[in-house]
Amino acid sequence: MSVYLVTGAAGFIGANYVHHLLEWEPDAQVVAVDYIGFAGNLANLDSVIDRITFEKADIADLEVMEALYRQHRPDYVVNFAAESHNDRAILGPSSFMRSNALGAQVMAECSRLVPVRSHVHVSTIEVYGELAEGDKWFTEGSPLNAKTPYSAAKAAGDQMVRAYMQTYPEMNIRMTHCANNYGAFQLPEKLIPLAVTNVLRGKKVPVYGDGLQSRDWLHVADHCAAVHRVLHADLDPIPAAAATEPGLLPIFDISARWEVTNLDIARRVVTALDLNPDEWIEHIPDRPNHDRRYLINPDKIESQLGWAPTHDFASGIAETVAWYVEHRAWWEQIIADKGELGFDWSQVGTAATPR
Ligand SMILES: NC(=O)c1ccc[n+]([C@@H]2O[C@H](COP(=O)([O-])OP(=O)(O)OC[C@H]3O[C@@H](n4cnc5c(N)ncnc54)[C@H](O)[C@@H]3O)[C@@H](O)[C@H]2O)c1
Repeated sequence: MSVYLVTGAAGFIGANYVHHLLEWEPDAQVVAVDYIGFAGNLANLDSVIDRITFEKADIADLEVMEALYRQHRPDYVVNFAAESHNDRAILGPSSFMRSNALGAQVMAECSRLVPVRSHVHVSTIEVYGELAEGDKWFTEGSPLNAKTPYSAAKAAGDQMVRAYMQTYPEMNIRMTHCANNYGAFQLPEKLIPLAVTNVLRGKKVPVYGDGLQSRDWLHVADHCAAVHRVLHADLDPIPAAAATEPGLLPIFDISARWEVTNLDIARRVVTALDLNPDEWIEHIPDRPNHDRRYLINPDKIESQLGWAPTHDFASGIAETVAWYVEHRAWWEQIIADKGELGFDWSQVGTAATPR
C-alpha cells in the first residue's frame, strides 16, 4: 500500500486528483495537505474525507512540512499547492511568491531530506509567457519568460525544482506544465464557473477586453491522469546534455491542443445554458498585462509516456456546465462565504474592487 502526499488538495485540481487517485488505487493512503487559502475549500473533499488524512499546513514552512514527511513517510508526492489566480496576484504578489516559489523549494527540500520514490512539481504553461506572432507553440525546451506576478512566481519555483533535478538526480523529481484546466470544483473566480454561476443568478458573463485572448484548454481529469503517469514513469537517468538542453530534463508539457478564445468559452457556456450569448455577455475593461496567446506541444508526454487526452472539448464543457448547475449548493456557499468573485479593473492603478 503506497502513501501519497498531495498538496493543494482542497483546491480545484488537487481535489480532482485525490478523487481519481482513490478510484485508481482504492487502498492508497492519501495525506491531503492544504493551508486553506482563498481558493482552498475543504468541501471539495467531503465525499472522501473518511478515506484520507487531511493536514492543514503551509507548504512554505519547512519545519512543519518536514515533520509531516517524517510522520507519514510518503512514497509519492504531488505538489499542486499554489496561489493560482492571476487577478489576485496583481493585487498582492507576496503570497504568490511564498507559495509558488518558496513552497516549491520547501517541498523539494523535504523530498530530499526524507526521500520518496518520486515527486511531481505541478507547474503551468504560463511560465513560458506569451507566444510571439507566428509561433505555433512552446515546448519543454522553450525559455521561461513569465511576465505576470502569478506566472513569474511559478517560474521561480520551476527554476528551483530544475536545480534540484540536476543537483540531486537520485531524488526522482519531475515537473509538468499544463494548459488551462476546466472541470468540477473550480472556484467561481475563474472564467468557466464564474460564467455559469453569474448566468444562473441572472447576471451577465463578464469578458475581459475583446475576449480574443487565446488559451489552450484541457479537462481536469486528463490533467490528473497525466500527472499520475509522470509520477509513476520509469524514466532514464538525466543525460549530461540536459545541462544545456532543458527539453531533456524530466519535464512534460500537457495539452489536448484545443485552442479557444475566452470569448468563445463564454459563448459556449451561455449556449449550454440554452440562452443567447449576444444577450448574456458583456465586455469589461481588461486586466493589466493580460497574456494574449499561449499553447504548448504535448508530443513528449504522448510519445515517451503514452499519455493521451480522453475528453472531447465540446462535450467536456457541456458536462462541466451541467456539474455547476447540479451543484448549486456548493458554489452558493462559496459566494456566501467570500462574496462576489469577479474583478472590476476600471479602477486599476488604485485598487480593483469585486464586481
Ligand atoms: N487551473 C489551471 O488551469 C492550471 C493549469 C496549469 C497548472 N495549474 C497549476 O496546478 C496547481 C493547482 O491549481 P488549481 O487551479 O487547483 O489552484 P487552486 O487555487 O484552485 O488550488 C490551489 C490550492 O493550493 C492551496 N495552497 C496555496 N498555497 C498553499 C500553501 N502555501 N500551503 C498549502 N496549501 C496552499 C490553496 O489553499 C488551494 O486549495 C497550481 O500549482 C497551478 O499553478 C493550474
